[in-house]
Amino acid sequence: MKRPFVIAVASEKGGVGKTTIATNLAVYLKALREDLPVTIASFDNHFSVDQMFALGPHPEGSVANLIEGCPVEELAVLGQYGVQYVASSRRLQPPSHDPAWLRQRVSASKLDGILILDTRPILDWFTEAALLSADLVLVPVKDRAALINAGSLRQIMADAGRAEKLWLLPSLVDTRARLNAEVRVHEFLIYGARERDYQVLDICISKSPKVEGLASGFSSRIRPVLTHARNTSVHGQFKKLAEFVLSNSAAEIFENRSRSDGEDGLEGLPVARRRKLILECPLCCQQSLHADGHFFFDLSSRRRGFIHPDCCDKLFAELELYVSTPDEMLALTIEGPGLVGPESRLTAHLFDADESLVASEELDREKNHLSEGLSMMIGRPLDAAYRELVLVNRKAISPAEQLGEDLYRRFALRRRKIARELRLAGLF
Ligand SMILES: Nc1ncnc2c1ncn2[C@@H]1O[C@H](COP(=O)(O)OP(=O)(O)O)[C@@H](O)[C@H]1O
Ligand SMILES: [Mg+2]
Repeated sequence: MKRPFVIAVASEKGGVGKTTIATNLAVYLKALREDLPVTIASFDNHFSVDQMFALGPHPEGSVANLIEGCPVEELAVLGQYGVQYVASSRRLQPPSHDPAWLRQRVSASKLDGILILDTRPILDWFTEAALLSADLVLVPVKDRAALINAGSLRQIMADAGRAEKLWLLPSLVDTRARLNAEVRVHEFLIYGARERDYQVLDICISKSPKVEGLASGFSSRIRPVLTHARNTSVHGQFKKLAEFVLSNSAAEIFENRSRSDGEDGLEGLPVARRRKLILECPLCCQQSLHADGHFFFDLSSRRRGFIHPDCCDKLFAELELYVSTPDEMLALTIEGPGLVGPESRLTAHLFDADESLVASEELDREKNHLSEGLSMMIGRPLDAAYRELVLVNRKAISPAEQLGEDLYRRFALRRRKIARELRLAGLF
């Protein structure tokens, strides 16, 4: 059975970097493995997760619904950087049942990939539920006090017979600070942790003013290290952390996934063809590799995937061009604000089976489902688009066939011809 691999980031101390680690880990995991669904939810009421990942209107569900028993896969919505998130809630009420309940709920869920749970700086019902659900617990420690505090988390894990899942992660470390001439503070911390028999990651997240700046200031957005602090040492540290998670802990997900991919008949495809394959429909975020779908391809990010036929109808409901014969190909061009002023422009072009342009139609980018669907296809908000070309096959085809040798080559050929046609016509 498919279940997500759960990572809890926990510490009874506040300000040790839990939220920074949870959110950035999600972004780095997704960057390293684009085909791996990554979902994040926070039991904290700070809305940092929403500030980093929100894309489009506020989702209807939140973690409060999760606690009421709503399946996590129904609450997760696709957000920025390809990460799915569950919206935070201001008021979470601990339910009357045992915290171990969450583990059962998550195990029974159909959510695929990795689920990251950020927690509050107290050992309440929610933190305990996150710990008991977790296949990996990361405990950021920045000083001796945080190390002592980790004891109660370890006790919970040990009582559940899962002590080996818990790892300390030195965080907010000033790698230059010294205890004395020989010993740096973080080395002392690691030594102290090992002496107390903790597993300690040999990765430290350094304290960096640039990283601190990402979450402060007047912007309502929190930016990831990957996109806004790449030149810091923290960038390499998060990359290593994500690699640790992938190599040590997520092996079982890949086992699960290759088994279910096998059912799709996609396991024999060349890696290059599967690498940027998005597993979910960009409109409803549910799996879309199990049945016929409309193949889409974004030229600049090279993201590709399938849109459910119903979702495709919804997506293009207002487009007159859309009612047409199925052999045709829709080419959507997005001219980002960098090119045409404050608003981006969205145009659909219809091509026939011989790659001749049949007609073009301007689209209303204020239509939410359209801009959201497209954002998810290109992997970033339309406002951040520069010049994009997304192709959507009007014909719904089984993923195995569409990605198979013949049709894949045919599609690549059509793609090139269409891009050339659009360029020649001055439309792209
Ligand atoms: N590596 C880092 N370098 C500098 N500042 C950091 C770093 N990680 C987190 N911070 C800052 O420290 C503060 C606490 O981080 P946060 O992730 O919110 O911790 P927690 O969730 O444990 O309370 C925030 O202001 C955050 O911007
Ligand atoms: Mg926090």
